[in-house]
Amino acid sequence: MWAPGKDFFVLLSLVSALRCRADTISEFAEDDDDDHNHEILRVLPNTYNWTHRPRIRGRWLDVTCAAHILNFGAVSEQTMDFEVSLQLAQEWRDPRLANLTQNAWLPVDASVQMWKPHVDFANTKSLDIATAEEETTMWVSQEGIVNLIVRYDIKASCQMTLHAFPMDQQICHIRLDGFDDIRLEWGFPSLMTMNTVPVISDATAFHSQFKLTGITAKSYVTSFLPSVPGKGCTFSEHTCDYTDSDVCQTSTKLCAEEAGSEECDKCVFYTGICANTTKHCELLDTGDKSTYTSLEIQFHLSRRFAYHLMQMYVPSTFIVIMSWISFWIEIGAVPARVCLGVLTVLTMTTQSSRSHAMQEVSYVRAIDIWIVACQLFVFTALVEYAVTYRFWLAQKNDRSAIIDMEVKLTENGTSPDHRPIEMNGAHDKRSNCKFIPTAAQNIDRVCRMVFPTMFVLFNITYWTVYLSDGV
Ligand SMILES: *[C@@H]1O[C@H](CO)[C@@H](O)[C@H](O)[C@H]1NC(C)=O
Ligand SMILES: *[C@@H]1O[C@H](CO)[C@@H](O)[C@H](O)[C@H]1NC(C)=O
Ligand SMILES: *[C@@H]1O[C@H](CO)[C@@H](O)[C@H](O)[C@H]1NC(C)=O
Repeated sequence: MWAPGKDFFVLLSLVSALRCRADTISEFAEDDDDDHNHEILRVLPNTYNWTHRPRIRGRWLDVTCAAHILNFGAVSEQTMDFEVSLQLAQEWRDPRLANLTQNAWLPVDASVQMWKPHVDFANTKSLDIATAEEETTMWVSQEGIVNLIVRYDIKASCQMTLHAFPMDQQICHIRLDGFDDIRLEWGFPSLMTMNTVPVISDATAFHSQFKLTGITAKSYVTSFLPSVPGKGCTFSEHTCDYTDSDVCQTSTKLCAEEAGSEECDKCVFYTGICANTTKHCELLDTGDKSTYTSLEIQFHLSRRFAYHLMQMYVPSTFIVIMSWISFWIEIGAVPARVCLGVLTVLTMTTQSSRSHAMQEVSYVRAIDIWIVACQLFVFTALVEYAVTYRFWLAQKNDRSAIIDMEVKLTENGTSPDHRPIEMNGAHDKRSNCKFIPTAAQNIDRVCRMVFPTMFVLFNITYWTVYLSDGV
C-alpha cells in the first residue's frame, strides 16, 4: 500500500471522520473551530450545469497535473507491456464554484456530479480506477479552484527492442491526452504540493527486473494541422535522475515497520535529482481546434544484469573453460576426451535452450551471440580432438612401422657387433623418439594457448561493444 502525502493524509482523515458522522447533512455548516471540520459539499448552486465547461477567456482551460507513482513493475518482454499504479492530481479553476465555502478546501461528496476535464490514457491495455466509488476525489476552494485526485492501476504497452538483451535499456511511457480544449501541464496542484517536482515516486515499490534510472515528465502539444502533423512541440519537460533510488529498495522493510520517518518519506516521496526546461510553443497560440495537449511520463529502464550474469554468462564461461581440459589429457585416453567433449557440448546446448525460454524474437540478441560463440568454442574443442586423434593414429602406425623396420634391420645384423656402445646410443635415440612431441601433441600444445587467447579476445570485443553501447 502507498502512504499518502501529508496534506492529502489530513484530507483523507477528514473525509473518513465525515463518513463516521453520516447524519451530518448540514450543507455549508460553519467551521466549528476545531481540527475536524464536518463540511462536505453535497448540493451545487442552481445555476451550475455539470455538462458545461467552466467559462474562461481564450481557448485553453489550464489543468495542472501532478502524479505520484505508487507502484512500478511487471515489465514483460513477452507481452511488451508494464504495470504502473499512480495517483494523479488535476487542478483547474471553475469560477462557478467560488464562494461556496470559507474554508481552504471543501470536499465534494462522491455523489455530486461536477464537470471534470476529459482526459484519456492513450497507450493503455487495461486501466482500473482504484479509488473506491464512494471515496472523495474532489475538493473545492473558496476561489473556485478544484482539485481532483484519482488513483489508477494501468497496464500500458511498451515497445522494446532486445538487440542488446540482457544489457539493454528501455524507455516505457504512459501518455495522458486532454480533450475539449484543456491545456494539460505538469505543475503543482494545491493538494499535492509536498514536493518540488510534479512527478514523484514511491521508490520502495519498484518491482522489476529493470532498474528505474530516471523519469521524464513532458507536456506537449499534438497537432492534426496539415502543416505540422503528429507530435507538435514540447512546452515543458522535467527530467529526474533516479540512479540512487536503489537505496530505497532495501528500506522497504524498514518503512513497513516505521512508516512516516524522515528516511521513509524520502523514499516514499522520492524525487531524484531533477532539472526542468520550459519552451515557448507556437502551436499553443494558434487556437486551432486541431491541436490538443498531452502529458507523458517516460520511464527510463536499465536491465538488472546480475541475474543474467549468474544464470547465463558465468556457467557458460565455466563450460567453455572445462572443454579446454581436454587439451591436457593424453591423446590415447579416448573415453576421457570424448566424454568431456560430448558433455561440454550437451551442457552448452541445455544452457542455450534456457536463453530461448526467455522470449522469442526474430532478431539476434546479445545473449544469442554469446551462446553461439560458446557453443562454437566447445564444439571446436571436440572437433580438435577428432583431428588430433587422426594424426595420432597415423603417427602411431608410422612409428610402429619404423620401429618394426629398425628391429628387422638390427636383427639382420647389418650393424656390426663390434660397436655395441654406439648401438646402445642408437637405441636410446630411438626410445627418446617417443618423447619428441609429435604433430598430434603439437596441435594440443598450440590449442592450449590458442583457445584461451581466442576466448579472451572474444570477451574483450563482446563486452566492449555491448557495455559501451548500453552505458
Ligand atoms: C445542462 O445543459 C444541457 C445542454 O447544454 C441541457 O440539455 C441540460 O438540460 C442542462 N441541465 C440542467 C440541469 O440545466
Ligand atoms: C466571491 O466573494 C468575493 C468577496 O467575498 C467577491 O469579490 C467575488 O466576486 C465572489 N465571487 C463570486 C463568483 O461570486
Ligand atoms: C524549474 O527549476 C527551477 C530551479 O531549478 C525552479 O525554481 C522552478 O520552480 C522549476 N519550475 C518548474 C515549473 O518546476
